[in-house]
Amino acid sequence: MELALLGGSLRPGSASEAVLHLCAGLAAGHGARTTVHTAADLDLPLYRPGALHRAPAARKLVETLRRADGVIIVSPTYHGGMSGLIKNALDHAEELAHDRPAYLDGKVVGVAAVGWSEHGAATAVSALRTTVQSLRGWVAPMAVTVDATGVAALDVPSARAALRADARLMRRLDILVGQVTDFADRHARLSV
Ligand SMILES: Cc1cc2nc3c(=O)[nH]c(=O)nc-3n(C[C@H](O)[C@H](O)[C@H](O)COP(=O)(O)O)c2cc1C
Repeated sequence: MELALLGGSLRPGSASEAVLHLCAGLAAGHGARTTVHTAADLDLPLYRPGALHRAPAARKLVETLRRADGVIIVSPTYHGGMSGLIKNALDHAEELAHDRPAYLDGKVVGVAAVGWSEHGAATAVSALRTTVQSLRGWVAPMAVTVDATGVAALDVPSARAALRADARLMRRLDILVGQVTDFADRHARLSV
């Protein structure tokens, strides 16, 4: 089963990108084939409804979403919601409006967010859930909020190592990834 993973920020040492890669590793352990789109891949032009030309990176994202049985999104928390970069990437899913099924219908979507506190990250999780449901995605019940204050000043390998060493976080991410891969796998089998 195919899993698309989107997330991260353009900040060097992005904690949400580190969490995204941890999710990808866990997903591979659950038997998923993964395609990861980090913030550099999602640094797309603002979505323009009706435009005839789409940037190659935007077309690639839409194709990845179209192919995926499930999706995992890890956003930084910006001002009480998901980052603009992630929201804009999800706005490009409007290109799936005329698919059958349309948008993310039939795809399970797991969400996680990173902030300066778990409480702050919960605001981004809530925004992600609303947007995913608007895209007709089937939101996984589990969501993960991450307090990044402990790893904010670390480089990517150190931040990844510190997050991986957090047993509670890894257990919660594994539940989230397990829900997404299990649902995606069952749905993919039913659809053949
Ligand atoms: C523009 C901006 C707005 C932010 N707003 C919030 C916020 O509302 N709540 C929160 O908990 N953290 C907030 N933060 C902190 C980020 O969520 C935190 O630094 C997180 O680690 C960013 O993700 P990254 O490490 O992947 O860049 C904000 C950071 C920035 C740069």
